[in-house]
Amino acid sequence: MTTAELELATTSAATPSSSTTMKALVYHGPGKCAWEDKPRPAIQYPGDAIVRITTSTICGTDLHILKGDLPSVTDGRILGHEGIGVIEQVGSGVSEFHVGDKVIISCITACLRCDFCRKGMYSHCRHGGWILGNTLDGTQAGYVRIPQADGSLYHFPADGDEEAMVMLSDILPTGFECGVLNGQVKPGDAIAIVGAGPVGLAVLLTAQFYSPAAIFMIDLDDKRLAVAKKLGATTLINSTDGHAAHHVMELTEGAGVDVAIEAVGLPATFAICEAIVAAGGRIANVGVHGKPVELHMEKLWDRNISLTTGLVDTVTTPMLLKVVRSGKLQPSKLVTHRFAMNDIMKAYDTFGNAAKEDALKVVLTNGGTPSTR
Ligand SMILES: NC(=O)c1ccc[n+]([C@@H]2O[C@H](COP(=O)([O-])OP(=O)(O)OC[C@H]3O[C@@H](n4cnc5c(N)ncnc54)[C@H](O)[C@@H]3O)[C@@H](O)[C@H]2O)c1
Ligand SMILES: [Zn+2]
Ligand SMILES: [Zn+2]
Repeated sequence: MTTAELELATTSAATPSSSTTMKALVYHGPGKCAWEDKPRPAIQYPGDAIVRITTSTICGTDLHILKGDLPSVTDGRILGHEGIGVIEQVGSGVSEFHVGDKVIISCITACLRCDFCRKGMYSHCRHGGWILGNTLDGTQAGYVRIPQADGSLYHFPADGDEEAMVMLSDILPTGFECGVLNGQVKPGDAIAIVGAGPVGLAVLLTAQFYSPAAIFMIDLDDKRLAVAKKLGATTLINSTDGHAAHHVMELTEGAGVDVAIEAVGLPATFAICEAIVAAGGRIANVGVHGKPVELHMEKLWDRNISLTTGLVDTVTTPMLLKVVRSGKLQPSKLVTHRFAMNDIMKAYDTFGNAAKEDALKVVLTNGGTPSTR
């Protein structure tokens, strides 16, 4: 982009700070990442906004990336797709946001105009989708460039709590859309959630909008299961013995569950869902998978089940924002650890060893003033 084009694209900017670099968490291939200096992002297109990150967090998907499960993420990429921040600069095409606005960054970028966006499938937006911390530099940094800002940011409410609101970037809409809505959870249903990580717990919180009668929570980690109990699970099953499906079938007198929600992303946990889904039931996959799973059609062909997969669309974010603001949904209960962004390597260690560290969501905060951190 030439200087003239850049001037055209940029309508307004906060008082520029002298530094042109920032710190960021950079991916360097499977198992490798580092907190290092990177150039600060600049406006490239009229629809862009530059956001100074105040709060971010780490997702189970970031752990999948570090395991090498997502080949779309290449060496040099800044990770992170969740965050809260303050707008530093906007392009000339941004109409809904201004310099100084505090915003919630959606993990999904949406142009609101393409064919996929127009049917509410922002996850597959032709000019966005899940790009942040994937094919575009993400939010675990001092600053981030948000393309299609009008469709990809939400105004942060004046009375909002950053730790609660950052859960709207990803886990709440993901749990609700890919787990609860895709699984068509209904009043009186028996449901099972496999995986009591932040995403599985977000499924647990939002499933209760619909009053399921029984909620089985399955995980390897008793401490996460204990959190699930506090948040509304009715039955806890530790699957370390490899017999989780057997226990669910016994407890449901052989019927299985109306909805089995996979929130881990492994062949073994998908297999549990296949084994426990009741006739006429639904399997809703939420987990990111890096390996093939076995689909047991020899057992499922006559069970009248349906199976859904999905990348979160984030179309329910405005609704969830209202519920969080009302205090009826309290996702900040998932926060167990807090770190300065500069200590992000420690935060990854903690989240990556969640069972040992008793970790659920780890919140990362940048200092209040624009700086090179
Ligand atoms: N579809 C989407 O749009 C979307 C969006 C965000 C996250 N995700 C995915 O959702 C999944 C969960 O994310 P998270 O942040 O909660 O991850 P996480 O890693 O914190 O949690 C995963 C949980 O699964 C449990 N687990 C692992 N192996 C198990 C087994 N064999 N049996 C039972 N439990 C087992 C772990 O103990 C852990 O509690 C990840 O795969 C993530 O990539 C998907
Ligand atoms: Zn995520
Ligand atoms: Zn679009």
